[in-house]
Amino acid sequence: MKVTVVGSGNVGATVANVLATKGFASEVVLIDIKEGLSEGKAMDIMQTSHMLNFDTTVIGVTNDYAATAGSQVVVVTSGIPRKPGMTREQLIGTNAKIVKSVVDQILAHSPEAILIIVSNPMDAMTYLTLKDTKLPRNRIIGQGGMLDSSRFRYYLAEALKEAGYPATPTDIDGMVVGGHADKTMVPLVSLATYRGIPVTQFLSEEAIQKAVEATKVGGATCTKLLGTSAWYAPGAAAAALVEAIALDAKKLIPCCVYLDGEYGEKDLCIGVPVILGKNGIEKIVEVEFSEAEKAKFAESVAAAREVNSKISEALQ
Ligand code: LAC
Repeated sequence: MKVTVVGSGNVGATVANVLATKGFASEVVLIDIKEGLSEGKAMDIMQTSHMLNFDTTVIGVTNDYAATAGSQVVVVTSGIPRKPGMTREQLIGTNAKIVKSVVDQILAHSPEAILIIVSNPMDAMTYLTLKDTKLPRNRIIGQGGMLDSSRFRYYLAEALKEAGYPATPTDIDGMVVGGHADKTMVPLVSLATYRGIPVTQFLSEEAIQKAVEATKVGGATCTKLLGTSAWYAPGAAAAALVEAIALDAKKLIPCCVYLDGEYGEKDLCIGVPVILGKNGIEKIVEVEFSEAEKAKFAESVAAAREVNSKISEALQ
């Protein structure tokens, strides 16, 4: 399988690096507009292949979309990341034009590709891609829920440790739905478990709320510490989506997808549980949220629609 990663910044390079170490792709192409950046990152990754024991070929190119031809999956990370104090939504003015231009060039060379959108504001960029390309919705997937759910698991494990249980994130099952946005993402507490047992049996309401709030600002917390947005977890999250598609794993993962009546909503892209496999979104899975979570999901939908309403202006 050939995978292209557009944008060779921290997130894009991490996607390529994780894909290489996983070894299921035969070729990964890194592409960026910055002269030499992709070539350098690809070379650096390839020089780990002997030590990390992988046979994936990673190549880097500057703006040469012909080299991406025939990619089955394309991960779009292009655009600027946020700086401390910024919201993801504030990036729309710069990133909308970049994402549109990248997607058009990608599809000119890989018309059958499944697209994974990572660029922020991700839910709006996924919607823009869907509207711009008019591709079937199973082929346009936004990455947000995988990352946010992973952060949720991390913070719940930390809370459990504080409460005297030796949990690690792999002991936790939990999902975040809604928009990939600090204020309005929805960690589903009612469905989160510690080895199958609801976390509510171990944690106080206060400890759970602390984990929920930490999850919501998980990206902003890293941005504050790093001076730019995070990359290891966002990169690993995008690579995990590629893996589910490449291996036709049919895994249940929260992804940003176009809704056409599911969850009572139409004409927007937002995070809900889906089955990911070789066709991209194989199925949108409707699960029962608690009443409080339903209300929060509705708020998240309203916030996503508000950002979508700014896309046309951003493309001017
Ligand atoms: C984050 C950014 C990449 O959540 O959206 O870290």
